[in-house]
Amino acid sequence: VPNEAVGHGAHGAEIAFEIDRAMEQTAEALREQFQESRQETERICAQLLVEDHCVQSSPDVSPPKWHLAHTSWFFENFLLIPKLRGYRAFHPAYSYLFNSYYESVGSRIAKSDRGLLSRPSLEEIHRYRYWVDRHLSEIDWQDEQTRRILELGIHHEQQHQELLLMDIKHIFFSNPLRPAYQERPELEKMPVEANSGWAWVESGMGELGFSASGFAFDNERPRHRVYLHGARLRNRVVSCGEYLEFIEAGGYREPRYWLSEGWARVRERGWQAPLYWERQGSRWEVFTLAGMRPIEELVPVAHLSFYEADAYARWKGCELPGEEQWEAAVERGMPYGSLWEWTRSPYLPYPGFRPFQGDFSEYNGKFMSNQMVMRGKSCGTPETHLGEPARPTYRNFYPPDSRWQFGGFRIATSGS
Ligand SMILES: [Fe+2]
Repeated sequence: VPNEAVGHGAHGAEIAFEIDRAMEQTAEALREQFQESRQETERICAQLLVEDHCVQSSPDVSPPKWHLAHTSWFFENFLLIPKLRGYRAFHPAYSYLFNSYYESVGSRIAKSDRGLLSRPSLEEIHRYRYWVDRHLSEIDWQDEQTRRILELGIHHEQQHQELLLMDIKHIFFSNPLRPAYQERPELEKMPVEANSGWAWVESGMGELGFSASGFAFDNERPRHRVYLHGARLRNRVVSCGEYLEFIEAGGYREPRYWLSEGWARVRERGWQAPLYWERQGSRWEVFTLAGMRPIEELVPVAHLSFYEADAYARWKGCELPGEEQWEAAVERGMPYGSLWEWTRSPYLPYPGFRPFQGDFSEYNGKFMSNQMVMRGKSCGTPETHLGEPARPTYRNFYPPDSRWQFGGFRIATSGS
């Protein structure tokens, strides 16, 4: 509350009352978002068996049980311990078990060992969630710093909701029974006729990054001037049918389409198609959250590495858009929707980047090497995660050989 607004007679008192009310409303809205987000995580896991919660099917994947605990640890470690007087941690070992990557917080179990945590039990982790939620109701929700951390904690938990779906998909795919997580596949056919054209970006100075009000991550800031190379970007992502043409044309056997590192991965890992694709005789099938399904031509192609996206673009005589071209095209009306999209931009700090303060400086900035930027949002991203309407400045990032995220791509050509 700005001090000038209070203490000037009746009018001041009125303003102070208004401000108090606004703060209460903000706190109330935040409380609702918090509860919604905590419940959503549990709803995602409610479809799983107890046994599903413990599996770590690759070093990138975390067991669902770990996500349930880690998202609670985030609130316990960053809010309850520093902010709630007399708070006692739920369990002294949990910081070691459920700290993800915060060096400032202390040592932790190796990421690839998370699947060893048969203990604590799922039941105990649910008790942990309840314990954390109950104590969070006792903190001061009108304190500004607390509200900022809560807001970040909610967005953090939403990121883990998407990770949960990615990980569940990989865990179920790795099980020979190939169970279905839900009834409908997560990706739908695209309305190809409606938006199969191109979006245009003119050459010239433009701006990149977030400057509006509301929540954004530190890596989206500051908004800054950039030179935009004129380009046209396809109005939609590449479809399975289109990608199949690349496979059938021998794309995975022809080194000239591939970056050197990409070609090395193709050979080392025996890639012949995107992750989750399987050949059944002369046909291809794909694993979805609804189980194995025949490939459908008009469904967006997903789960491919940056290298595969880049090779396809090269084969087409095109390229991947830069993140600045992508953002400019969306600001000019280019639609996006059900997949994160590879760009050709390495994940780097914007000029003048300032990480979040304190422990949260480790949230994004320290990952800014050897990763590529993905833009958009996906079928696994919670509705409200990018704000409403979804902001186009959001920067996701993955190593170039990573395939388990809900990722696809669109092609572009740069002009004059
Ligand atoms: Fe996390």
